Amino acid sequence: MSDVLAGYDLSGQVAVLTGAGSGIGRATATTLASVGVTVVCADIDENAAHLTAQWINEHGGAASAVRTDVTSRADIDTLVDGAFAAHGRLDIMGNIAGVPHNRLVAEVTDEEFERILAINMKSVFYGCQAAIRHMVPQGSGSIINVSSGAIDTPAPTLACYAMTKAAVAMLTKTLATEVGPNGVRVNAIAPGVIHTNFSKHNYTDAEGNEDPERVEKYKSRFGNMAPLRRVGEAQDVADSILFLCSGGASFMTGQILRPNGGTAMPW
Ligand SMILES: NC(=O)c1ccc[n+]([C@@H]2O[C@H](COP(=O)([O-])OP(=O)(O)OC[C@H]3O[C@@H](n4cnc5c(N)ncnc54)[C@H](O)[C@@H]3O)[C@@H](O)[C@H]2O)c1
Repeated sequence: MSDVLAGYDLSGQVAVLTGAGSGIGRATATTLASVGVTVVCADIDENAAHLTAQWINEHGGAASAVRTDVTSRADIDTLVDGAFAAHGRLDIMGNIAGVPHNRLVAEVTDEEFERILAINMKSVFYGCQAAIRHMVPQGSGSIINVSSGAIDTPAPTLACYAMTKAAVAMLTKTLATEVGPNGVRVNAIAPGVIHTNFSKHNYTDAEGNEDPERVEKYKSRFGNMAPLRRVGEAQDVADSILFLCSGGASFMTGQILRPNGGTAMPW
């Protein structure tokens, strides 16, 4: 009998995750740690990154935190090179950090356009470059880039956000063709609507407090768009990322996995 679960024992592996202070990044960090991965948690919110690492260390895992602004190539190089120097290997690179953006094309300023490109797109390119510098000579590794369901369903105000996420998907596929022969897999995740801080502007008041009634409205409005009739949780995405990092996905590269409740079903 084949030992399917053995492919999910990632003991001894090392992961670097951006955006690990919240939502999908935090859930991915705790999930990978639960299967034996040593996790380097990066976030521009240093305290949040520390809280994730602290939680993992207090629950029997191994993690550290590094303040990283993903718009800075120097920050990303320091993060990734530092993780490799500290642990002697790099098995998983999760380019997860990202921010929402909603504005009609006609109203987007140069400044916000550059900002969204830097946070959501250039950062992933920098993260991929830093990771393959170690993974290619190592002869193994798994890169996970977080794209978005926004690439599947054009909608008003989403142009800048969806452009960056489409670029992330294309980078993923192209890089997969370049580094596959070196044993490095590169895949993307395109989540549907996921209940994290990312979407809190939908249901918080001016002071940033959650309004339970508006949370329910948000959940039913977006949940009803999905055949599975709910919005996603960060754990739903972390589980997909775990699969892509596992032995179960050893023949998968250049793919876009869609934990989206069935909202979009591209071939
Ligand atoms: N939540 C959703 O509905 C959804 C859907 C599709 C895709 N995504 C994508 O998932 C990823 C994670 O989002 P989330 O839902 O967990 O959101 P989140 O807001 O909960 O977490 C994002 C994290 O990224 C960090 N971050 C922001 N700017 C940064 C920077 N310059 N440098 C380093 N870290 C930075 C934030 O501090 C935060 O901890 C993003 O790329 C987002 O675009 C989210």
